[in-house]
Amino acid sequence: MEKMNKVSVFAPASIGNVTVGFDVLGLAVKPIDDTLLGDVVSVEPAVGANKSSLSVIGRFADKLPSDPQSNIVWDCLLQFNQALVTENQIVHVVNIILDKKMPVGSGLGSSACSVVATLHALNAFYRDFFDQETMLKMMGQMEAKISGSLHYDNVAPCYYGGLQLMVPSENIITRTLPSFDDCYYVMAYPGIEVSTKAAREVLPTEYSRQDLIAFGQNLASFVDACHRNDKEQAFAQFKDVVAEPYRAGLLPNFELAKNYLYEQGSLAVGISGSGPTLFAVTDDLTKAKAMADWLTQEYLSTDLGFVHVCQVDIAGSRCL
Ligand code: HSE
Repeated sequence: MEKMNKVSVFAPASIGNVTVGFDVLGLAVKPIDDTLLGDVVSVEPAVGANKSSLSVIGRFADKLPSDPQSNIVWDCLLQFNQALVTENQIVHVVNIILDKKMPVGSGLGSSACSVVATLHALNAFYRDFFDQETMLKMMGQMEAKISGSLHYDNVAPCYYGGLQLMVPSENIITRTLPSFDDCYYVMAYPGIEVSTKAAREVLPTEYSRQDLIAFGQNLASFVDACHRNDKEQAFAQFKDVVAEPYRAGLLPNFELAKNYLYEQGSLAVGISGSGPTLFAVTDDLTKAKAMADWLTQEYLSTDLGFVHVCQVDIAGSRCL
């Protein structure tokens, strides 16, 4: 098999759940100022070496295990190599560099960024040996290894881009929905860590019939509105009955910020993934910038926090 010399792949941040679709909706986002909000992974041949290596650099590198072999990127390499062996392919020795630009436990799909960037880069290195569906399944397995349960709502948008709806089919897995591309998503990461595992443990194991009906109706109404480009309906019942009532307490000042942002004309406010990142939606850039300024003053808890005005990232992960 022919191999590439060096590839670098960027994988973008995403909003898991998108409020009305717990575990089944996800949206890839990118800052309007072109900041790379996501991870970059490079793969190159390890010339003369007899084993592969992983180095981690970047703003959030020190938040990851110091032993590179405990990093999910390393697991991705092992998994990918195993898949090559199963297909009777030659496995090459590579050097991988993870540029960890995403905070861990942020609700921005940080682990998905590392998983998607690594597996996409490895596949590109091997000239796209595996098809996209095979890659997405591998990405899902790796994400499950970290979060403790299989959910595609970060890896699917991160890989394919746009707004993704997970469908109950092992082969199709996800469908791209029309997204509101004129909307701005103001993303505010307060700078504290909330692990997805811990944020899943606070959820009830059973829900009432009333919640079940509300969940079904809100999600169906949103999906219908996406297909008709009906922003008003999409955000009219943009309520999370599954996770937000139980997780809001994990996010300092979430309720206060939510009320303020609605008063300022937000179309919607929600928790991104399992938090603590909050997102607010508006189709007015001036309002988006004012909300970003307010969130920077009022929502950030540490100097690791940040706020970005984003739009939908249609492209998903890509070679740089
Ligand atoms: N759907 C997952 C959860 C997303 O909310 O637990 C995690 O980013």
